[in-house]
Amino acid sequence: MSAAEHVGASGEPARSSGTDSGTEPGTDSGTAQWYRHFGTFDAPGSSPCYAEWAVGIAGDAELIRRIDLWPYNKRQPLLLLAAARFLGAQISPYRDFRNFLDGHWAAVSDIVLSRATQTNEAGRCTTLLPSLAQISATEGRPLALIEVGASAGLALFPDRYGYEYVAEAAEARTTRLDPAGARPGTYPVLRCVTSGPVPLPAALPQVVWRAGIDLNPLDVRNRDDVAWLEALVWPEQEFRLERLRQAIAIAREDPPLLVSGDLNEQLVGLAARAPEDAALVVFHSAVMAYLDGAGRTQFRRTMADLAAERGCHWLSNEGHTVLAQADGSSVVPEMDDARLRGRFLLLQDGEPAAIAGPHGQSLEWL
Ligand SMILES: C[S@@+](CC[C@H](N)C(=O)[O-])C[C@H]1O[C@@H](n2cnc3c(N)ncnc32)[C@H](O)[C@@H]1O
Repeated sequence: MSAAEHVGASGEPARSSGTDSGTEPGTDSGTAQWYRHFGTFDAPGSSPCYAEWAVGIAGDAELIRRIDLWPYNKRQPLLLLAAARFLGAQISPYRDFRNFLDGHWAAVSDIVLSRATQTNEAGRCTTLLPSLAQISATEGRPLALIEVGASAGLALFPDRYGYEYVAEAAEARTTRLDPAGARPGTYPVLRCVTSGPVPLPAALPQVVWRAGIDLNPLDVRNRDDVAWLEALVWPEQEFRLERLRQAIAIAREDPPLLVSGDLNEQLVGLAARAPEDAALVVFHSAVMAYLDGAGRTQFRRTMADLAAERGCHWLSNEGHTVLAQADGSSVVPEMDDARLRGRFLLLQDGEPAAIAGPHGQSLEWL
């Protein structure tokens, strides 16, 4: 993650207007402001506990001094908060949380320095599903999926989850989709409020091959990795924890192929392994913020090459902050930036298709 990125409400880094000012330990510049912003803007609507803890840390000069001893990209609020929860911190007033940190500081520090924010949100499949179904139907072939920045690969199972799309329009029509042959209760049902002409399929598309790339793939069979994925879900978001556990159970039955490495280095080689007779789709959600402008430009070039050489499709589901290109222009100059604040833009083969809730909770088709 580059030094100019902060973690946004969706749990992943979001580019900030602030820069890495090389904060001196103990001063109320970068780090305290970062926590205060998180506690007053990002967290309150989702987690009152995180809001209180982050604001408490922001006003706690001694703690800020300790946090500032870590490398810049390790100071992000979500990383510290998730590390504490990984070690057992319970929802509590800030005073108790501070005592917990004091009693566990060495362990918190170890987790922060060895782990990264890798929130894996299966809910984002609601955003991807209509496009995936459309691609499969248009090509008349099943799908081969590659997710870049896959974390544990939970978004690679769009065919194994249930969906409930609720149209926002007056009659609030609900479209329910379930995986063929699966017993109700054995899969998460992902709920999404829709607006506009979302091209909902009549059935889930077939996926015949799935693979992912991550700098640090998380293993759904590894207890510590699973505990870390759970710790990355904010407190008070029980429904997200529940669906994470259900998605992990599904992935465990048939773990996806996950390649370790940089997406720009691994993608072409992995794409060559996809079956020729399936429609290949490369997708990503909440990943481009981890790349700098040059890395994103390189990735876009690779996607153009893969499209030309083997008809590969591309779904990009990212926050507005990463649509800027290396030269300062925007990938989607036609899109009003204000419409995207706090939400993700879904690009299908480079064209804006929808504006989505960052966790797949809403989908506005364009
Ligand atoms: C916020 S998580 C999102 C995970 C998943 N896409 C989702 O939506 O649930 C971002 C992931 O991208 C990975 N990542 C960041 N930079 C990467 C790179 N250059 N190459 C491969 N993976 C990367 C991180 O390790 C992390 O697991």
